[in-house]
Amino acid sequence: MAAQHPIPGFPDDFVFGVAAAAYQIEGAVTEGGRGRSIWDEFCAVPGAVARGESGAVATDHYHRYREDVALMRDLGVDAYRLSVSWPRIRPDGTGPVNAAGLDFYDRLVDELCAAGVTPAVTLFHWDLPQALQDDGGWMNRATAERLAELATVVGKRLGDRVGMWMPLNEPVVHTLYGHALGVHAPGLALGFGALQAAHHQLLGHGLSVQALRSAGCGNIGIASNHAPVHPATDGPADIEAADVYDHIVNWTFADPVLLGKYPADELAALLTGPVDDDLATIAQPLDWYGVNYYEPTVIAAPGDGAGTVGVLEVDLPPGLPFAPVPLQGYPTTDFGWPIVPDGLREILTLFRDRFGSALPPVYITESGCSFHDPDPDADGRVRDTRRIDYHADHLAAVRAAMDAGVDVRGYFVWSILDNFEWAAGYRERFGLVHVDYDTLDRTPKDSYRWFQAMLTARRTDRNGDTRLPGS
Ligand code: FCB
Repeated sequence: MAAQHPIPGFPDDFVFGVAAAAYQIEGAVTEGGRGRSIWDEFCAVPGAVARGESGAVATDHYHRYREDVALMRDLGVDAYRLSVSWPRIRPDGTGPVNAAGLDFYDRLVDELCAAGVTPAVTLFHWDLPQALQDDGGWMNRATAERLAELATVVGKRLGDRVGMWMPLNEPVVHTLYGHALGVHAPGLALGFGALQAAHHQLLGHGLSVQALRSAGCGNIGIASNHAPVHPATDGPADIEAADVYDHIVNWTFADPVLLGKYPADELAALLTGPVDDDLATIAQPLDWYGVNYYEPTVIAAPGDGAGTVGVLEVDLPPGLPFAPVPLQGYPTTDFGWPIVPDGLREILTLFRDRFGSALPPVYITESGCSFHDPDPDADGRVRDTRRIDYHADHLAAVRAAMDAGVDVRGYFVWSILDNFEWAAGYRERFGLVHVDYDTLDRTPKDSYRWFQAMLTARRTDRNGDTRLPGS
């Protein structure tokens, strides 16, 4: 195992957590009255997901959640960021609540509290009920109201024990991959037309914040994917293209939430509906803002070469005003993502500069890396030294941002377990705990032991106090 770094100077009340999402870990997609989700449908499309894989079984967390919570307890984390499966709770998205589905999360939340791990709940982590998709999904404004109804149901049932709430996970990725490019569920390739789905998700966020507060819930934020965008060269055309891309992927999603406006009139002009009124709803005061960070992006002016975007290296349609190019000169994860810890410091300081006093405290709601870890060695160990280095370096970047005046309150590792990595399937392993997909056995990796050594010592010093409500 690599040397044990101390947690580099984080305050006592800094929250260390782990994260996962319902479709990626639960399995049991036909059990307990769960309805179909857009990911069940998408996985059934030939060629949509690597090797034809799906979340039908995943890590079987639905049946093994007690074992998984025990792993979190033994790890010593303060909090666990889970998502509720909308089709498990409201199978067709609009009709009656499925008591068995809500009961599952009630048991899970109780188990977490008994383990001293604060539940942090995401309402929508991309698994929309298929019945709502059949009515237009996020292209239909009514879906925003349906999300707020889910917020009321879940908030009333779990609000007495949940310590953090976030209605949305990464609306930018769900918009770009799911609605603009068609490489995630629901598989729509609408190009810029997808902005309407972004707007409705953001509206759903605002309505859900209101609904959660009405249900008596507090400590509400959002988990949004952000990263610095760099121009490929100092040339004005590349700088202009990078600026356009930055506005689309970062500020279209942050400005409405934090400032109540879109970053450019040209973007707002593409939307239909009472946009100004909606922006007032979207800009609900938040208790915190969550940043999911993986890698910076490099953008050039459009050329005649094939552009690809992000982690899936998706071919982009012609005619776009920007062209993503690979970031050279950095080590990569086994997923091919460049490892740039300083990009996390950079995006946090960009937020500080852009939003000033409009920025509430920040949590890193996801940070993690996929390495193709082998099965456990004969001695039962998974020697994932590179994952230890990854998190040590990203924590140091968070510390540097805090030293630069950004009020960061916590860091959630993506992910507690290896799991179903969407269109890339099971080959990409992000977990602190290895999952054998034949036996579903869990084996803590060396990275788990590394966090455990730091966190259990810290928790002992604090007498087990997690400093968050809910546990
Ligand atoms: C994020 C998603 C999360 C996981 C990580 C690797 O974009 O929110 O579900 O897939 O990437």
